[in-house]
Amino acid sequence: MTPNLLDNDLQQQLLQAARAARLQAYAPYSKYRVGAAVLDDQGRIHAGCNVENAAYPEGVCAEASALSAMVLAGSTHARAVLVVGTGGAWVTPCGGCRQKLREFCAPDAPILTANDTAMGPRYTLAQLLPESFGPDHLNTP
Ligand code: THU
Repeated sequence: MTPNLLDNDLQQQLLQAARAARLQAYAPYSKYRVGAAVLDDQGRIHAGCNVENAAYPEGVCAEASALSAMVLAGSTHARAVLVVGTGGAWVTPCGGCRQKLREFCAPDAPILTANDTAMGPRYTLAQLLPESFGPDHLNTP
């Protein structure tokens, strides 16, 4: 499987994991629950949810939470990401999460969106974060 292709079975597994994670979200302030699931380079899926805080800026997004779970499990390569938001408007990763994804995803990594009932638009990381700054910039000779 090439990195930017995602078969239907894996997509369904990501969807299921992200929806289940969304149910665990702690979002008493915004009421906007988010679940995310990342597929790592070993074919494993790691999920995360948003965790808000009374000191608002200290909240953690679902994508960041899922990436932390992936790193904890020993992987630093995400092959695909699926994010499930709340309501009819499709969630797309916030700016900060796009940069966090950039650390662990190839430019052509698929970033899928969904809600409770359907799949939404699909992007690549490069579409969401063009001309991005990443680890290669720091690999100076
Ligand atoms: N949120 C995420 O978890 N991921 C995103 O990419 C968009 C925003 C969360 C942060 C906050 O808990 C809530 O959604 C409303 O902004």
